[in-house]
Amino acid sequence: MRVDELKERVAQIRWHHSIDLGSGVIIPGQDNSARKLARLKLPASLAGKTVLDVGAWDGYFSFDAERRGAKRVLATDSYSWNGSHDWGDKRGFLLARTALASKVEDCDIDVLDLSPDRIGTFDVVLFLGVLYHMKHPLLALERVASVCHDMVVLETVVDMLFCRRPAMAFYPQDELGRDATNWCGPNPAAVLGMLRTVGFKRCEIVSGLRRPLPFRLAKAAYLKWKRKNQFWSMLRTDRIVIHAWK
Ligand SMILES: C[S@@+](CC[C@H](N)C(=O)[O-])C[C@H]1O[C@@H](n2cnc3c(N)ncnc32)[C@H](O)[C@@H]1O
Repeated sequence: MRVDELKERVAQIRWHHSIDLGSGVIIPGQDNSARKLARLKLPASLAGKTVLDVGAWDGYFSFDAERRGAKRVLATDSYSWNGSHDWGDKRGFLLARTALASKVEDCDIDVLDLSPDRIGTFDVVLFLGVLYHMKHPLLALERVASVCHDMVVLETVVDMLFCRRPAMAFYPQDELGRDATNWCGPNPAAVLGMLRTVGFKRCEIVSGLRRPLPFRLAKAAYLKWKRKNQFWSMLRTDRIVIHAWK
């Protein structure tokens, strides 16, 4: 594809991820994907591994897993790919895959429909930015565990940080980030407890916990200014990354 044609097609799509497609074409997504990637602390090499990216959207993390040498990567999604919401659609993933000459596979499937029969099992499962969109988070993690035979990398919003016991905030409306697709904000103890309940024996928080109050204040103020997010909900939440093994 010619660079001017690629630029034209990129401009027609609403992007979530920021992806460098090469030849000077950089997708200007709303997400700071490179910064998120650094927080994930993924193994430098995924050589020989099979990787599943659940809720892949434009596929930034699927393409990254392929770059790290994964022998097979499957990107799955449903909500943002079906194009019936104002979240964009699957054209971003498809265009980025073509531009990157990537072999990442794709499957349109809801998290709650994941099963070994439907998609097989994978060495590494990426479950990034999806848990808090789940109405049934423990059930969702059960489905994720069913298709994972070694390691999950989970990134999520956490709430209820003042509580040491496992606890979860429920967002019946748009209490988190003015986004009605957000349903739950577990605290770190609840995320760890759910992961153990669905069969992950060893869990480690690798990023994000207890970011200092001044950092969270500044971030809440920035997000209120930039995206009109609610200041207090942003202040009392954080994001963490957990690595967990079967
Ligand atoms: C905040 S985005 C995260 C995208 C990407 N994983 C990342 O970390 O940048 C949440 C993704 O989860 C997907 N999603 C939400 N609910 C889903 C469901 N029930 N089944 C499958 N995917 C879902 C959305 O379509 C969206 O792509």
